[in-house]
Amino acid sequence: MRVLIVGHGGREHALAWKLKQSPRVDQLYCAPGNAGIAELAQCVNIGGTELDRLLAFAREQKIDLTVVGPEAPLAAGIVDAFQRAELPIFGPVQAAARLEASKSFAKTLMHKYRIPTAESRTFTDAEAAIAYIREKGAPLVVKADGLASGKGVVVAQTVAEAEQAVEGMLLKKEFGPAGARVIVEEYLTGEEVSVLAFTDGNTVVPLVPAQDHKAAYDGDQGPNTGGMGAYAPAPVLTPELLKQVEREILQPTIDGLRQEGLLYRGVLYAGLMLTAEGPKVLEYNVRFGDPECQVILPCLQSDLLEIMLAVIHGELAGQTVTWHDRHAACVVMASAGYPGPYQTGKIITGLDQAAALPEVCVFHAGTATQGKNVVTAGGRVLAVTAWGETLQAALAKAYRGVSAIHFDGAHYRTDIAHRAKAVSQ
Ligand code: AMP
Ligand code: GLY
Repeated sequence: MRVLIVGHGGREHALAWKLKQSPRVDQLYCAPGNAGIAELAQCVNIGGTELDRLLAFAREQKIDLTVVGPEAPLAAGIVDAFQRAELPIFGPVQAAARLEASKSFAKTLMHKYRIPTAESRTFTDAEAAIAYIREKGAPLVVKADGLASGKGVVVAQTVAEAEQAVEGMLLKKEFGPAGARVIVEEYLTGEEVSVLAFTDGNTVVPLVPAQDHKAAYDGDQGPNTGGMGAYAPAPVLTPELLKQVEREILQPTIDGLRQEGLLYRGVLYAGLMLTAEGPKVLEYNVRFGDPECQVILPCLQSDLLEIMLAVIHGELAGQTVTWHDRHAACVVMASAGYPGPYQTGKIITGLDQAAALPEVCVFHAGTATQGKNVVTAGGRVLAVTAWGETLQAALAKAYRGVSAIHFDGAHYRTDIAHRAKAVSQ
């Protein structure tokens, strides 16, 4: 089969790595890819949201399966366009991708189908939002409705901060149309965990739960990032809790969408807070998480291609999905300054030494080839991933990989999985 992956980060590198292991994959392409993906797939210089060019490429190259990594193409309707052209593609249609692209859509669905989530109200009028904020009092969470590259959420510890966030979004239009509606939400406390599931619109098959680290610095300090590391399975989500999440959250979400006339096919990501009252949804994503994907896929024993085909054909109920009895951990190496401004083009050394370590895989997040060198080309540069019989073993190997790699200004967290260690102690 000829497979095309859309995207250019660590998640897509992990997808390429896993799909390449399928005996049925003959040819792998990635648009646009990166220097690491280029070792596994033929990279084509087409951006993820250039739908017409992607469609033309898939037609010309007779692509048998297209796998979409990031949310932007899904929100832009790539799946609808490919389906119209009768090209098989893994991911939800545009109307179902609103689950991530519109937080108010997600909130309405959760409310209607009684899926546990934070209490909230949606506003387009700043005065009304501010009146509600004053009535509720801090802490509160203010969220832009649309896609804002992970920057549209403000956890406000004071009423003033919440008001400022509302003004920024609704009046100053800091997020453009994505902030034309805001959600003001109850502040939840507890452990955060990511539960993803394969679904064909009827059957839901959860993946091993993962935890990521959004803060830039050790001890969960500093600004929010796309994710500085992850590990799976997350011990905080016990098998009993996972069953509860499946029963109270994942299945009702998919069933609710179906009742709304939307068949959700692809991977559904529920970002959860494990509150004293039970798991509640913080957000949905309509794709694999990054860097969660980098730790989930090394735990997957089954052939990912077979699962994806079963999802597309609505045959997930007949598919067995098996997992290795192992733990995986990933440490992200970022450019100096990330998530603020950073420089690119720094030469990366030690990649081969790290990759030669057993059970270590260096997924590239933001890299490019420059002459014979691999250089930095993004904020998150590498996702150094390893696995082993225990989480400790996986972590030790991942950090061994990290210490073999060098580039000017490289920054990484040294405390990945600190919460899991606290659970197991
Ligand atoms: P989101 O993009 O919706 O996942 O939000 C980003 C981060 O904000 C989450 O990972 C949480 O740490 C935090 N967050 C979002 N919603 C809430 C909430 N209702 N209560 C507390 N923290 C939240
Ligand atoms: N790691 C969080 C996300 O992919 O949105």
